[in-house]
Amino acid sequence: MHLITLKDWSNAGVMEVVENSIAIKKHPGQYADAMNGRSLALLFQKTSTRTRCAGEVGMAQLGGHGMYLDWQTTNFTLADLGDEIRVLSTYADIILARFLKHADVVRAAECATIPVINGCCDRYHPTQALGDLMTIQEKLGRLEGVKLTYVGVHNNVCNSLIAAGLNVGMEVTAVTPEINPAAVDEPLFEDARKAGCFAVSNQLQASIAKSDVVYTDTWIDMEFFLDSGFKAEKERRIQLFMPYQLNRELLDGHDVLIMHCLAAHRGYEISDDIMDDPRSIVFEQAENRLHSMKALMLKILETNNE
Ligand code: CP
Repeated sequence: MHLITLKDWSNAGVMEVVENSIAIKKHPGQYADAMNGRSLALLFQKTSTRTRCAGEVGMAQLGGHGMYLDWQTTNFTLADLGDEIRVLSTYADIILARFLKHADVVRAAECATIPVINGCCDRYHPTQALGDLMTIQEKLGRLEGVKLTYVGVHNNVCNSLIAAGLNVGMEVTAVTPEINPAAVDEPLFEDARKAGCFAVSNQLQASIAKSDVVYTDTWIDMEFFLDSGFKAEKERRIQLFMPYQLNRELLDGHDVLIMHCLAAHRGYEISDDIMDDPRSIVFEQAENRLHSMKALMLKILETNNE
């Protein structure tokens, strides 16, 4: 069993991970030996704080071992991806892969003889969505019928929220002036739309007014800060997305949970004061990546051993 996208998972499977995430958070000691002798290969082509730490620390807290592998210090750049994945499958029990391209995650899953978890690609970010579902379930006590407005750029995170929404009956409205080309997934949008779990809107205020959760993600890429060659694109995005910033003026008077998958760029997609607002649950959301990753790894290995 892999987790490439939540589109492939049943409602029962997702809800089991959500419920177990909450149980693991409450009683971590009960799971301290659950992964004795097991190894997680964390195969990262891109940087990460939350996903890496959730996998590596999560595996250690379950009594197993995490092995971080990047593109600089392994031979993944030199060799055929499939060959290296086959070899990795003989050392580890699970692969958590963060690749640039979705096609590479699919190829890794095809070549692996152990479960592969998609740790974020250009199309989906399913482990983020599982942590988000856990957080919403904790806060609201339900997922079905929850109304979530996603604001900003339609990207991998937005896609995984839509897939998660379709799975659990959560209604996602995207107020997104632009979509990343890699994130276009018409079959997902169509299925979710038909189920009443996805809509696109340009009415930001109206959408927030009927929402339980308001969610955003960065639209300023790291290269924009590091490389002056991206100055024009950075300016274009600021012009386009600034009207969609989560700030006090937009959110005043709204009883909503405020979520952000992080890393955030304060002052761009979210203002300083809204990041630290009492309605903001972004840091609990980030912590829950750890608990939900533990529940996911346990589920994936249990299913694999059946
Ligand atoms: N939200 C998220 O995936 O964070 P990282 O990129 O730090 O893993």
